[in-house]
Amino acid sequence: MSDKETVDKRNKLNELTGREWIRFTKSWFIADGKSTEITHEIDSHPASFPPTMIKEFIEFFTKPGEKVLDPFVGTGSTLVACNECGREGVGIELYEKYAQTAMKRTNLPVLIGDIRKVIKTELPQFGKFSLCITSPPYWRILKKFKDYNQQERSKKGLDLKYGEDPKDFGMIETKEKFLAELGDLFINIIDLLEERGHLVIFIQNIRDKGETIPIAYELTVQLRKRYKFLGERIWLQNQKILRPYGYPYGFVPNIHHHYALIFQKK
Ligand SMILES: C[S@@+](CC[C@H](N)C(=O)[O-])C[C@H]1O[C@@H](n2cnc3c(N)ncnc32)[C@H](O)[C@@H]1O
Repeated sequence: MSDKETVDKRNKLNELTGREWIRFTKSWFIADGKSTEITHEIDSHPASFPPTMIKEFIEFFTKPGEKVLDPFVGTGSTLVACNECGREGVGIELYEKYAQTAMKRTNLPVLIGDIRKVIKTELPQFGKFSLCITSPPYWRILKKFKDYNQQERSKKGLDLKYGEDPKDFGMIETKEKFLAELGDLFINIIDLLEERGHLVIFIQNIRDKGETIPIAYELTVQLRKRYKFLGERIWLQNQKILRPYGYPYGFVPNIHHHYALIFQKK
């Protein structure tokens, strides 16, 4: 940081310079690849994220030492990012195999169980969080075994879905139930957030039975009743291979972006 680039005294949110702050506000970004520490265990998880991408969000929405929650922590990318930038983090994961990977990657707490239950039992002891940043299962996206990517993963012996536990949000059959339960969870998380704390949800609109189901939009509308919706940042995956979906009959998108939906406690 140069002499001219100091943190504004009025900035109570983070420790970024003006230049760094403004750079982050661009509504899209490209992040390719997965974790930097590629191991079979991390690769095995069908949807692990690059910690560097999460770190940028954490550095914007918190100051060093503040607390971050990831209720769907998977292999622990959020906790790795917390370690890298000196934040406290707590993760929750339903399946022991992924929780074990997360625990190997960091020394931060990983609670094993159904978040719907853990939020009432073990989580309150950790106090309030400045930021909840997470990526829930994208409804039943992993049930589409015929997808090209799923076929490639199958050949490599990697997991095609998280598991078969009925408490898994990815096992919920109807969209209505999925959105109702996920919406309720994020509404309950409000009580665990500091005043004016933030919630960042990574999610996609997904294809199901020949049409696009706008779960990202519907979740946003639902959460606006209790949170202020600050906007989205679109994560572009520029490295993904284009597939001939729909060709030569009709438009079927290659969905190569995710939304990071940004909310604030009202
Ligand atoms: C999209 S993945 C998160 C991946 C994570 N960001 C990473 O980098 O590894 C969603 C995770 O939520 C977990 N999950 C699903 N239902 C859950 C529940 N009821 N309680 C806690 N975790 C759950 C899944 O096992 C999966 O690991």
